[in-house]
Amino acid sequence: MSAGAGGAATAENGDSMLTEIDHVAIAVHDLDAAVSWYAATFGATVAHRERVESDGVEEALLKVADSYVQLLTPTREDSPVAKYLASRGEGLHHVGYRVADCAAALQSVKDQGGKVIDQAPRPGSRGTTVAFVHPKASFGTLIELVQE
Ligand code: CO
Repeated sequence: MSAGAGGAATAENGDSMLTEIDHVAIAVHDLDAAVSWYAATFGATVAHRERVESDGVEEALLKVADSYVQLLTPTREDSPVAKYLASRGEGLHHVGYRVADCAAALQSVKDQGGKVIDQAPRPGSRGTTVAFVHPKASFGTLIELVQE
């Protein structure tokens, strides 16, 4: 990676901070049913399954090349995903972009005047470091910045 002002890639130097699609997250009511459907229909198997208590979700990751489809279901009623399902129903919930430096990518959103959900990077699933960007900052898409 080329060095920017802070040693990390910056938007100004032409190197995209977004290195890969980490995952596409789909909110579902019944995680087992969704996992079974992907297995029966596409032969896709679960590479990782995890309950993230801090977010009130359980997720199943299905590997697709170097990325994942993340099936997501709430574990409690006050989970943001529960609210999402209640208001919008099942479907695309967020896109996770892989970044080399979550803090730098988050700072870049703030520098552009964008609204963020996480003020600072925090632990995500699979031992990753993540931060969410508010959909109002990003043309209606909830973005998760994922540093492995
Ligand atoms: Co995610």
